[in-house]
Amino acid sequence: MEVDIALAADEFRTYCGVCHGSDGRSGGPAAKALKDRPPDLTKLTRRAGGRFPAEAVFQKIEGLNMPAAHGTSDMPIWGQRFVEQELGDGVLLKDARKAAKATIRRINRLIKYLEAIQE
Ligand code: HEC
Repeated sequence: MEVDIALAADEFRTYCGVCHGSDGRSGGPAAKALKDRPPDLTKLTRRAGGRFPAEAVFQKIEGLNMPAAHGTSDMPIWGQRFVEQELGDGVLLKDARKAAKATIRRINRLIKYLEAIQE
């Protein structure tokens, strides 16, 4: 997959920077207000023992397996948000399919960005 890293960096700053810092190091303006301090996203590979954990990162961003209803995670459910942003009102199945594809593409683009900022 061709990935536009500049676009991914832009999306990261827009959606993630407020908590994770625009450089991914957890220094965002909202970080202090959270129960859990957002982890440093430049250390994902190091914390996973040397291999970038793409699958776990995808699941984390998509948020399908998150206990959101119980409010135990401050990390927003991005899969759901992106789907809503893609769809707007008046949802048709073909639009939902398209949105699902676009959502996966956007998450994968963010993952490529995160992979690129690992130290
Ligand atoms: C409202 C604050 C907030 C925003 C915005 C946010 N996050 Fe998070 N994120 C957190 C918190 C808090 C954690 C740690 C708790 C948890 O894992 O749920 C976290 C955890 C993560 C993790 C897991 C890290 C690990 O070590 O396991 C990843 C990956 C991640 N965020 C990526 C993103 C991406 C990509 C975006 C933007 C699309 C984003 N986050 C936006 C607060 C946020």
